Amino acid sequence: MTQTVCVIPGDGIGPEIMRATLRVLDVLNTGLQYEFVEAGVAALEKTGELLPAATLESIARNRVALKSPLTTPVGGGFASINVELRKRFDLYANVRPAITFPGTKSRYENIDIITVRENTEGAYLSEGQSLSADGETAISMIRNTRRGATRIVRYAFDLAARLGRKKVTAVHKANIIKTASGLFLDVARGIAQEYPQIAFNEMIVDNTCMQLVMWPEQFDVIVTTNLFGDIISDLCAGLVGGLGLAPGANIGTDAAIFEAVHGSAPDIAGKGIANPCALLLAACQMLDHLGLIEPAQRLRAAIRATLAAKDRTTPDLGGTGTTETFADALSERLR
Ligand SMILES: NC(=O)c1ccc[n+]([C@@H]2O[C@H](COP(=O)([O-])OP(=O)(O)OC[C@H]3O[C@@H](n4cnc5c(N)ncnc54)[C@H](O)[C@@H]3O)[C@@H](O)[C@H]2O)c1
Repeated sequence: MTQTVCVIPGDGIGPEIMRATLRVLDVLNTGLQYEFVEAGVAALEKTGELLPAATLESIARNRVALKSPLTTPVGGGFASINVELRKRFDLYANVRPAITFPGTKSRYENIDIITVRENTEGAYLSEGQSLSADGETAISMIRNTRRGATRIVRYAFDLAARLGRKKVTAVHKANIIKTASGLFLDVARGIAQEYPQIAFNEMIVDNTCMQLVMWPEQFDVIVTTNLFGDIISDLCAGLVGGLGLAPGANIGTDAAIFEAVHGSAPDIAGKGIANPCALLLAACQMLDHLGLIEPAQRLRAAIRATLAAKDRTTPDLGGTGTTETFADALSERLR
């Protein structure tokens, strides 16, 4: 059966990197079909809505989406579209690989860390935030559930088992945030016993940040709650040369959305110099998710070779190429 992917070209540099990504994907001949829909400012201008019903319906029907960055207008009471999508489709697992690539400004060699971040609860509850009438006291609630902790920790261990990874580290702050983080850690310890072939360790979040900067090679798969995962995965992206190389998958039971971690980069939009790598690596995660393992491996190898050769790469990588010449270089390697 032909698989159709919902494609959201997005805002700012979004359409530019999406065009390049689809052009490279076409060379792989995977037979994927695309259904194009709008979200973000592009959708707001056309339909008056940031997340039109047709877009939600397309994601629900196709169950797989490739999404470029979206601009959420500042002020005007607009909620984050990305947070809304995660909530709407219960995309509970945010999977962010950080891998060193040759020819990039990475601080280390041989880093290969996957952060599995809980994506739907923790400290990111819009209904759990309030400000007193006098503006003097702000309250923010953390809510972790046994169900939420169980499914994210199990996801991390299953991913580690599937990929033949050796270790899962549960990152927490249970020494201080005793109930919410304690519940997560308790669940992680229990589930770890079901996977004797995978080493398990636990680490307090502040120590984890220090360890990641000094000895990142000790980490393999990290599993953690929403806020810590948000910060740690960006830290990991920094270790391997920045957000231009950082993809992310948002996985739920009924839908999955694959995206670049970076934003819509309004400062370089329209200049044709955006690096398409993060979205291409997100496309690799999507191919894996669809069981298209061999094309995903070919695409990753082509990205690695193109970066190593600094062949027509974009200015953020120290090159003098454009989004399109970068896509040309990748396509030629894949042919
Ligand atoms: N997933 C998403 O949809 C997402 C994520 C983050 C931010 N945003 C939105 O993006 C907009 C801009 O946010 P920001 O400026 O804080 O972050 P940003 O990631 O868009 O840009 C930060 C810096 O990185 C550069 N950059 C980002 N991606 C690049 C790429 N592919 N190639 C080369 N350089 C790149 C930009 O030029 C800029 O200098 C905001 O409206 C924000 O809400 C969306």
